[in-house]
Amino acid sequence: MKAIKVVKPFQIEIVDVPKPTITSDNDVIIKITSGGICGSDVQIYNGTNSLATYPRVIGHEFGGIVEAVGDGVTNVKIGDKVAVDPVLSCGQCYACSQNRSNVCSTLKAMGVHVDGGFAEYVKVPQENVYKFSKDFDSSLLCTVEPYTIGMQINNRLRITGEDQVLVMGCGPIGITIMQVAKSRGAKVVMSDILPKRLQTAKELGADETILVWKEDLEERINQLTNGEGMPVVIDAVCIPATFKQSIELASPAGRVGVIGLKNIPAEISVADITKKELDLIGSRLNNKCFPSVIESFENGTLDPRTIKTAEFNFMDVQKAFDLIISDPEKVLKVTLNF
Ligand SMILES: NC(=O)c1ccc[n+]([C@@H]2O[C@H](COP(=O)([O-])OP(=O)(O)OC[C@H]3O[C@@H](n4cnc5c(N)ncnc54)[C@H](O)[C@@H]3O)[C@@H](O)[C@H]2O)c1
Ligand SMILES: [Zn+2]
Ligand SMILES: [Zn+2]
Repeated sequence: MKAIKVVKPFQIEIVDVPKPTITSDNDVIIKITSGGICGSDVQIYNGTNSLATYPRVIGHEFGGIVEAVGDGVTNVKIGDKVAVDPVLSCGQCYACSQNRSNVCSTLKAMGVHVDGGFAEYVKVPQENVYKFSKDFDSSLLCTVEPYTIGMQINNRLRITGEDQVLVMGCGPIGITIMQVAKSRGAKVVMSDILPKRLQTAKELGADETILVWKEDLEERINQLTNGEGMPVVIDAVCIPATFKQSIELASPAGRVGVIGLKNIPAEISVADITKKELDLIGSRLNNKCFPSVIESFENGTLDPRTIKTAEFNFMDVQKAFDLIISDPEKVLKVTLNF
């Protein structure tokens, strides 16, 4: 069978690898139908992902149809349409004992630390497989994972319909965060530096949009909140400057969501956090968010078609990466069909 391998930075190949076979009672083999390309895949491709090792079969956003199951598999059966949670955890460490396996001390993400889902068939443990209860577009099964990122931070920040939220950055992650918050009834303000991305955010339901080089962000936030600052701020840009801003723009008793993964120090005022008694809340990957995202897809509360900008056959993966790299402003989620 074929798989997509980043052999080394800037070298992506379609390679022949052995088709997986059932070797444990817990195994599920999935015939992959779709894979989504994430910013972190692009980083693995261009050599800027500090977690990845090479060569690597990439892909952590993937789904398909169950092809075979081990004798102990009870949650899915052959023929089910499924999405795969790419997070592998130990079940033994402190975080796992707190039901927080998404921050397991020895966490491995498929497609980053170990081989991933951009292949014709993939073998995964049953705990990582989540099925759809209704028929669903096979080319969208891969979009569950990016929405679980948005769901996780909404859960971590306890966002409800009472909240007013500023999301900085209208990339795919900022947009899924916005869509989940909107589905809960929250009022959401989006900021970006790219007009096209703000326009998309507006079309997808943003209550307010702020073009940060044209308008004064702090002034607009103060206008929108009677000078109090934002009750909830989420930095989906993830650079030191926006992390600093997120603390400055939050209202007293506010919550700040942190999802950045870069090892770059940021200079922030400790007193701002103390005086406003802010909750600074980190959010990583997802903690059992697959069932609620699948339910939202099935009942129409979340529509993944809204973030998909292009699809390619997996044999054309190079073209897909070229599109994302050459025209990022126009792209939200690019998917591969297998
Ligand atoms: N914690 C997690 O589990 C997790 C998961 C996925 C992604 N991430 C992180 O989320 C971040 C966003 O991911 P993405 O794929 O949406 O990235 P992206 O690069 O597509 O989007 C970032 C957006 O921010 C905008 N931007 C840049 N500077 C800005 C500024 N000063 N103010 C407002 N907007 C600005 C960009 O124009 C772009 O639209 C990344 O840093 C990624 O590492 C975290
Ligand atoms: Zn991703
Ligand atoms: Zn663990």
